[in-house]
Amino acid sequence: MSQQALPSLAVLISGRGSNLQAFIDACDSGHLPARIGLVISNNPAAAGLQRAERAGIATQCIDHRDYQSREAFDGALVDALRACDIELVILAGFMRILTPVLIEPYLGRLLNIHPSLLPKYPGLKTHQRALDAGDTEAGATVHFVTRELDGGPPVLQARVPIVRGDTAESLAARVAAQEHAIYPLAARWFVEGRLALHATGATLDGAPIPATGIAYNSGMCG
Ligand code: GRF
Repeated sequence: MSQQALPSLAVLISGRGSNLQAFIDACDSGHLPARIGLVISNNPAAAGLQRAERAGIATQCIDHRDYQSREAFDGALVDALRACDIELVILAGFMRILTPVLIEPYLGRLLNIHPSLLPKYPGLKTHQRALDAGDTEAGATVHFVTRELDGGPPVLQARVPIVRGDTAESLAARVAAQEHAIYPLAARWFVEGRLALHATGATLDGAPIPATGIAYNSGMCG
């Protein structure tokens, strides 16, 4: 299949872009049969923008500070996504709360990754909260984005152990390695037409996905 015929993804970032890099690598290797048509950052200083440029991917910086409301900012995002014919939107460390202006037109085509075992620890500082609670494991969850912050139906969830001496940083690194495996895999399921969002929740191959997402194991490859 020619590059142009592949489904086009947009990856929205605010920071270092390690998940973006996982998508770049998965597309390059053919593991994810898609192309990244656009990378958008709300933060002009995001290191992930350079990763995209190095990979020859179109980038746009849409700075939220240039807009008077969240809705106006989201409207600019929608305009950029529509102009590039984007089929699936990947939120990868995009540190903005979205409004229905973006969520509604992309409902069912909008994924996020959250660094916790949702429904535990929505919001920020997830690793420190897991450590403070004395949890023995942590993880990451890919989920569909709905109006509920970090509350859309989970798709895929990876677990890691918390080990003695862990800090928020060491735990984040262990979780991030899993993020880089599960996020492109969930996107692959989507572009292959296997993953969908319905009024009753998410499905894979027509079967309902459990409330905490499908449990990832390293033998999964699509
Ligand atoms: C990841 O931990 C992700 O779970 C969260 O934001 C972080 C983004 O990291 N949503 P990176 O920019 O992809 O390296």
